[in-house]
Amino acid sequence: MPDEKKSRPSGCPMHAAPTLLGEGELSYNDYLKVPELLSLQLPQSNPAHHDEMLFIIIHQAYELWFKLVLHEMESAIRFMAKDKILLAHHFIHRINSIMKLLVQQIHILETMTPIDFLAFRDRLKPASGFQSAQFREVEFVAGLKDPSYMKYFRERPEYLALLQRRFEGPDLRSTYYALLRRQGFAIPENAAEREAKGDDTLAGPMIQALLPLYREPSKNSQVYILSEALVEFDQQLSFWREHHVRVVERVIGAKQGTGGSSGVEYLRSTTIKRCFPYLWQVRTHLEDGV
Ligand code: HEM
Repeated sequence: MPDEKKSRPSGCPMHAAPTLLGEGELSYNDYLKVPELLSLQLPQSNPAHHDEMLFIIIHQAYELWFKLVLHEMESAIRFMAKDKILLAHHFIHRINSIMKLLVQQIHILETMTPIDFLAFRDRLKPASGFQSAQFREVEFVAGLKDPSYMKYFRERPEYLALLQRRFEGPDLRSTYYALLRRQGFAIPENAAEREAKGDDTLAGPMIQALLPLYREPSKNSQVYILSEALVEFDQQLSFWREHHVRVVERVIGAKQGTGGSSGVEYLRSTTIKRCFPYLWQVRTHLEDGV
């Protein structure tokens, strides 16, 4: 018989053998800070509306997952920069699994009736998804660096500084282009900078550079697998945008957002954003000039 008092949990504390905690030993609740976590759901409505708990928890859950997504993106970028392609893929693959969950999670909000949401929505103003610094960090670290979103953090210098660092820091898109160049693909110098400036002349050379990879995936299978994982990431992010806007339309119709945007109309305009547009476009041209 194992000494249950002495045996320490290994890995997931939920699945360890039953343990009688000794004084000062690490417990599940201490390790995961469960009491602190469960003390953070504070409704604005008074008396608290039943559905506000759902609204708070779903947003907090998203923010926790965004934290992990950013953590994994940093690793993917680090390994890409060292040409450790399969290791970079490992982390992008994990991000994609998380993103699939995030796409589905938004639909829990459809169990809230529009009239129930209206009962506490006004209390939330002017709080808005525009102020999710982590969502904007995910965009910036992916390579979608639109500085105009910084205005939503004007009153919060700590977030502004964070976003400024992400804006200037490494991102998936430019790190991927640099990797492609080192692997022998003819990606133009400063492609990421030119892309950010909306340089129309970039599309032709970028597609030419990517055609060999997509015409003969087996010749550069690691780069191909990584590229498709990046497309998957892009796809999941755009799925999230599409599912979010559909849920928003179902809950508030064509009302303005609490952050002052036109609401559904604005959100719909974001669904065309792509982190890796040329990886999407190259497919159209596979048989050109063959
Ligand atoms: C009933 C539920 C929800 C409604 C009605 C709603 C509504 C909106 C609206 C109208 C906007 C546009 C900005 C504005 O004017 O405020 C927006 C943006 C945003 N929302 Fe939601 N939202 C909901 C749930 C969520 C959830 C669960 C998340 C999870 C993180 C989220 C994250 C965001 C983000 C990140 C943005 C900025 C998107 C961008 O600029 O591309 N929203 N939301």
